[in-house]
Amino acid sequence: MRPTLCLLAVLSPCIWAQNEPFPVHETRPLIVNGPYLLAPAEDSVTVVWMTDTPCHSKVLYGVESPNREADHAEHGLLPIGLRHAVRVTGLEAGQTYRYRVVSTRVVKMKSYWPEMGLQAESPIYSFTTLDRKKPAVSFSAITDTHEDTARLTGLTKRIDWAGTDFLVHLGDAFHGIESEEAIWSKFLDPVTKALAFIRPLLFVRGNHEARGPGARSLADYVPLPEGRFYYARDHGPVHFVVLDTGEDKDDSTNVYARLNRFKSYREEELAWFDRHVRSERRMTEAPFRVLLMHAPNWGWTDNQGAKWTEVANRGKFDLAISGHTHRFAHTLPGQKDNAYHQLVLGPENLARVDASEGELRVAVTTREGEAVESFTIAKRGP
Ligand SMILES: [Fe+2]
Repeated sequence: MRPTLCLLAVLSPCIWAQNEPFPVHETRPLIVNGPYLLAPAEDSVTVVWMTDTPCHSKVLYGVESPNREADHAEHGLLPIGLRHAVRVTGLEAGQTYRYRVVSTRVVKMKSYWPEMGLQAESPIYSFTTLDRKKPAVSFSAITDTHEDTARLTGLTKRIDWAGTDFLVHLGDAFHGIESEEAIWSKFLDPVTKALAFIRPLLFVRGNHEARGPGARSLADYVPLPEGRFYYARDHGPVHFVVLDTGEDKDDSTNVYARLNRFKSYREEELAWFDRHVRSERRMTEAPFRVLLMHAPNWGWTDNQGAKWTEVANRGKFDLAISGHTHRFAHTLPGQKDNAYHQLVLGPENLARVDASEGELRVAVTTREGEAVESFTIAKRGP
């Protein structure tokens, strides 16, 4: 077959490059967004990036050097496209890995002899997996950046990245998601820059992420291995539960033109939350439990908010961190219905949480670095 194709190669712009037994054009893709690290876990992390032309992709990774390979094959096929999201799995907890992303251009897709291009490689970066055995951990949280990239950048510049294991964005990064391009330009590009390719993002969906023509594509750019925007993680002495507080208005509100189905979605989520609190061993074994969610009042629940509070209280959560109201607030346990510290960050606030076996230390500052609040939560007794 090859001589025939060699002849074709002479007649067309394709060449036989890199000793590949199929046609390869002398054209190289560009990595135009990312890579950024999403949804860290103890055994896995997702790497997301974009290329300027259709490619298939992989992540090379390893402890000493990136000599192992992860791809994102689906149904026996490597996806070909501009957006690339690879879940790197089978990792050791608390281990630092070196990694690079690789995208190979697919010039013309055909049943036989697809015409390929050259590959783009990122520099070698690193990531560190979460680890429940780590005695002390730290994370930072921001919220409601609402497409204000200067605010997002200003806040993240205040973060002590050397001592921060991951960034939490508590939602409403957008007013409404106008386009898939806006997902990068208004949020993920400045986040990627702040994370510097080495720190992961823990994403919490806000009500404004449920709006606009790009809302239905959000999960493609923020893909979560659970396939949903509510999930749990462990890191150090903290068991994290991330909730999706959905919309803040009734499904039947006219502005949504009957396109929303949050009532059933939230009921399923509440059932999951209840099951998780009842059956997850880390809910009782972890020294601390932290809720991360956008709306402090659980969002629109069709008047079922008390059920959510009851589950959270029964789960003995120590701290809930939210945004949404655009006003800082710290409600002490027992001050209202909540049996936990309820911290609500404003759009100009940065929270830093340091967790050790004995205490959670919380410090909230402004974009200018002024202190807003600090408090310590001691580990509960048996
Ligand atoms: Fe909100």
